[in-house]
Amino acid sequence: MTTRIDWKGAAFSLMLLFAPAAGAGDSAADIQARIGAGDPVAGKDKSAMCQGCHGADGNSAAPSFPKLAGQYADYIRKQVIDYQKGVRQDPTMTGMAAAVTSEQDLLDIAAYFASQKQMKGSGAGNEKGRGFYVNGDMSRGIYGCVNCHGERGKGKAADNPLFPLIGGQHKDYLVKQLNDLKGRARSNDPAGMMADIARNMTDAEIDATAEYLAGE
Ligand code: HEC
Ligand code: HEC
Repeated sequence: MTTRIDWKGAAFSLMLLFAPAAGAGDSAADIQARIGAGDPVAGKDKSAMCQGCHGADGNSAAPSFPKLAGQYADYIRKQVIDYQKGVRQDPTMTGMAAAVTSEQDLLDIAAYFASQKQMKGSGAGNEKGRGFYVNGDMSRGIYGCVNCHGERGKGKAADNPLFPLIGGQHKDYLVKQLNDLKGRARSNDPAGMMADIARNMTDAEIDATAEYLAGE
């Protein structure tokens, strides 16, 4: 596949296109930039079912349910559509995604979770994981995560929904995604750019990096 060979170029041109000086945070402008085209107020009621697992404000309690608080609306929307199309699969979430039949509802639900403050982690973190997050290991083709996911996993830029918010996410969920991406149980990442990274990570690196991120 030619797309696989070109992912770095594609990712870097996208990053340049959106490149801001600062990463993403919770300023009014940042929130406005990430909520997309939906209506967060309407999305609050429309997302009642989703809140049952993902939390009233997008901060889920169970570590297998990802936090959605402050996540990019367009990323949330893409994932729901991917579950609907079957290019991302999960025994629980596939059925939930199928229940969202209106495009406007999806935009509003995504905007609601995106309008919340960015998810925040707890825990002691992990120094090794932090080092790996920042530097990767170019000798094995692992580009530092920070280049795409931003400082502390808080986003590359407020207006770049291609790269999800991962800092502050549950460790168990992060480990599962990295393993799914590594083994291609999850293969909806554009041009396989996450698989190219994850496939070269050891179990120990996955664990340490996830632990670091879960503490941010
Ligand atoms: C019964 C629990 C449950 C409900 C209700 C639920 N989800 Fe989920 N959701 C999950 C689980 C479990 C996952 C992780 C699946 C996986 O590993 O791919 C998930 C994953 C997701 C993701 C991917 C997050 C990411 O960081 O990639 C999105 C987006 C999402 N759900 C949105 C929704 C929306 C919108 C609704 C309501 C229409 C909803 N969910 C309802 C359990 C639930
Ligand atoms: C070249 C850019 C790039 C680099 C470098 C990169 N990622 Fe990603 N990552 C992505 C993209 C794009 C996605 C979203 C895939 C999708 O749309 O489903 C993603 C998704 C993820 C997810 C799933 C998030 C979720 O909510 O389900 C995790 C976890 C993740 N990356 C961790 C990492 C880690 C850890 C590293 C460093 C070892 C890393 N990424 C390096 C581009 C990158």
